This record gives sequence, structure tokens and C-alpha cells, in this order.
Amino acid sequence: MARLAGRRIIITGGASGIGRATARLFRAEGAQVAVLDRSDNAAKAVADEIGAIAVTCDVADPASVSAAVAKAAEAMGGLDGVVNAAGILSEAGIADTTAEVFARTLAVNLTGTFLVIQAAAPFIQAAGKGTIVNIASGVGLMPTGPGSVAYVASKGGVVALTKSVSMELAPKIRVNSVCPGAVETAMTSAYIRDASGEPSAAIAKRYALGRHGQPEELAAAILFLTSDESSFMTGIALPVDGGRTFH
Ligand SMILES: NC(=O)c1ccc[n+]([C@@H]2O[C@H](COP(=O)([O-])OP(=O)(O)OC[C@H]3O[C@@H](n4cnc5c(N)ncnc54)[C@H](O)[C@@H]3O)[C@@H](O)[C@H]2O)c1
Repeated sequence: MARLAGRRIIITGGASGIGRATARLFRAEGAQVAVLDRSDNAAKAVADEIGAIAVTCDVADPASVSAAVAKAAEAMGGLDGVVNAAGILSEAGIADTTAEVFARTLAVNLTGTFLVIQAAAPFIQAAGKGTIVNIASGVGLMPTGPGSVAYVASKGGVVALTKSVSMELAPKIRVNSVCPGAVETAMTSAYIRDASGEPSAAIAKRYALGRHGQPEELAAAILFLTSDESSFMTGIALPVDGGRTFH
């Protein structure tokens, strides 16, 4: 039986990578899906492929978020859940991270997550109950090393935001985060494989399972936290990282 039958879900960042894999899986599990992404063409391509709705949205822009969430909820006849997967990477360390890069990284990854939750919560409350899953990162629990200061700060923020909001929105809305390790997507294509196309040995060495992950492996965890199978879970930060955080 479909695990999300009748559910109406917004997926930000659904045009690529983890968000796209989640959109595909959620449709296969019976949900209606609205893909909210700043990339119009890619969002439309995914929506056309799986039978979803595409809505252009910059999650860092409050007006864009409230208009897009309202449009998606109207098109689906309501809203039962959100997956916040939109995000950007910035890899520089403290000396090379400008104030603008720091602010933009937080604006998309952290403020964007906040804005979408704020806009979506009244619709989910009106539906009676629902779920929110935020994609944080393993580096939000434990950085892998020096660098990526803005990204790490934004993802630590997503973990804390999730815990805070989960208390405020309970019991109607369960709010959890997923903390991926290295997953092969457009975001990581520059470093997840070496020049010959082989998986990076340096990354593989950091993981108990000896490899990086695939977007579908994250989508499965996001499905679990969205489905009723996780009905007694809220406020958690779930590592899905091949054993990196303890390795
Ligand atoms: N890939 C990894 O190894 C990894 C690891 C940990 C966490 N994450 C997180 O997972 C999430 C998904 O990343 P991914 O690897 O699938 O990357 P991706 O680049 O493949 O997809 C990110 C999507 O977000 C969209 N996006 C970016 N900025 C946006 C904005 N301002 N408004 C709306 N949409 C926007 C992009 O257009 C893209 O479709 C991100 O939050 C990322 O930080 C990824």
C-alpha cells in the first residue's frame, strides 16, 4: 500500500539531487507533490516527469516564499507536509569567506528553511496534522575539518531550528531533520569523484561503509520521517551518512 496516499507535500529544491529523488519517491508512494525551486526549467522538467506541480521560488525571499507556498497549497487543495531540501554550498574557510557569502549562505540554507516553515505551518495546521523534514547535514553535527564555515554554521542552525520549531508546532506537526553525509549530486560533483571518475578515496576513508551515498538513500529516510511509521518522532537530527559521524 502507498505510504503517502492522499498526502499533499511541498519539496523545496526538488529540481535536483536529494530533493528530486524525494519528489520521485513521494509520487511513487501516492503523494501529490509541488516542486518549489529557483530553477524554473529544471523544476518543470521534474514536475512533468513525475506528474507534480512546479512553482518558481527563491526560498531566501519572504515574498517569493509566501506566494509560492500559497500557490502550491491552492493547487493541491491543501497541504500536509514540507521537505526543505533547497540549499547552496560554500566551501571557503574563515579568512576567505566574505560577509556577503556568509549572509547569502545563511539566507538560503537557514532563513529559507525558517521562511518556508513559517509560510507552510498554517496550511498544515488547517489540514489537521502533518510533517516537516529539513535537510541539514552531517557537518551540522560534526564538521569534517577546517573550511566551509558559512555552510557548517547554516546547517548547525537548521538542526537547532528543527528542535525549537518541533516543540512549538507539536502535536499537530512533527518536525525533524536529516543529516546527510556526502551524497552524489550536482552540489558535490566537483569533489565526490577524482579526475578519472573514481569515487574520492579521501571521502570513502571517512565513512564506515567505505563509500559516499546516493540521493535515493536520503529519499528513503525522508520518506520514513514523513510517513506514519515515524509517528512518535519529532525534533530529531537523523544522520544518514554511512557511519561518518561516529567513524
Ligand atoms: N549532496 C550532499 O553531499 C549533501 C550533504 C549534506 C547536506 N546536503 C543538503 O541537501 C540539500 C540538497 O542538496 P543536493 O545535494 O541535492 O544539491 P543540488 O544542488 O543537487 O540541489 C539543490 C537544489 O536547491 C535549489 N536551490 C538552491 N538555492 C535555492 C533558492 N534560493 N531557492 C530555491 N531553490 C534553491 C537548486 O536550484 C537545486 O535544485 C541541501 O540543503 C544540501 O545542503 C547535501
